[in-house]
Amino acid sequence: MKKLYGVIGDPIAHSMSPVMHNDLFSFYNIDAHYFPFKVSERNLRETVLGFKAIGAGGFNVTIPHKTRVMDCLDRIDPLAESIGAVNTVVAENGELTGYNTDGPGFVRGLEEQLSDLTGKKTLIIGAGGAAKGIYYSLAKAGVNEIDICNRTLIKAEEMASACPFDVNSTILEPNSAELKMGEYELVIQTTSIGMSPKTGVTPLSLDRLQPGSFVSDIIYNPSATAFLAEAISKGAGVQNGLDMFVYQGALAFEKWTGIFPDTVRMKNNVMNQLG
Ligand code: ATR
Repeated sequence: MKKLYGVIGDPIAHSMSPVMHNDLFSFYNIDAHYFPFKVSERNLRETVLGFKAIGAGGFNVTIPHKTRVMDCLDRIDPLAESIGAVNTVVAENGELTGYNTDGPGFVRGLEEQLSDLTGKKTLIIGAGGAAKGIYYSLAKAGVNEIDICNRTLIKAEEMASACPFDVNSTILEPNSAELKMGEYELVIQTTSIGMSPKTGVTPLSLDRLQPGSFVSDIIYNPSATAFLAEAISKGAGVQNGLDMFVYQGALAFEKWTGIFPDTVRMKNNVMNQLG
């Protein structure tokens, strides 16, 4: 019998996950289908219990439910627990287990670009949900020098002090991060600054960035933010947010099926959807 998978969120109409996962199910001859479900906060618990009751294979969770969904699950993976957000749920033997594949997906996508991350002096810009997943996942992967720059310093301090992995971090205001920019080999932009339709703005200047450093922006629309354009002009390597999206999906697919899918195929599929 066909297995049900899906993504719950609100809004959900523009999610690219259904096309991406349905293509993989047919490519790997798996009898399953993945649907988008628009779910309000009021209906979150009933929806999650519904997935469990009908024997679904699992589901993804997106904005605004990544934190609240945790109360509706039977088990939470320790990394997702520390990040405080679940984006992937696996249903097995009548139990729902929550994982976070956003942060690990970002790291996996970055590892495709940079062979060895450990020892790279890193700056993360932002201290929201996305930043936390990336920061904890990088620290778990052994990156142990990660400074954080955020408009609201207290949020960055809280994120650093709650990290369960060994990492040295200095918390910086944007001005101070600009002055230290020449020290970083890896800069990761996690805020919404520069996202369509408000393109052209950047969170801080890359004037002192060294050629040969690497800059990753988790935004993928536009495909090259003003921040990445500035990084290119300084001679840095760059990556946009498409890899993070694809690899979070690949890790979710692997949890559901045991197959780590063809990420080149996934990336081409998503780029076609983006047009
Ligand atoms: P997400 O879960 O997508 O990471 P979030 O939790 O709302 O979203 O976090 C957004 C991040 O972008 C935060 O680091 C936020 O900075 P503050 O902590 O100071 O709010 C940052 N951000 C968003 N808009 C910003 C702006 N106009 N200027 C500076 N920082 C901004």
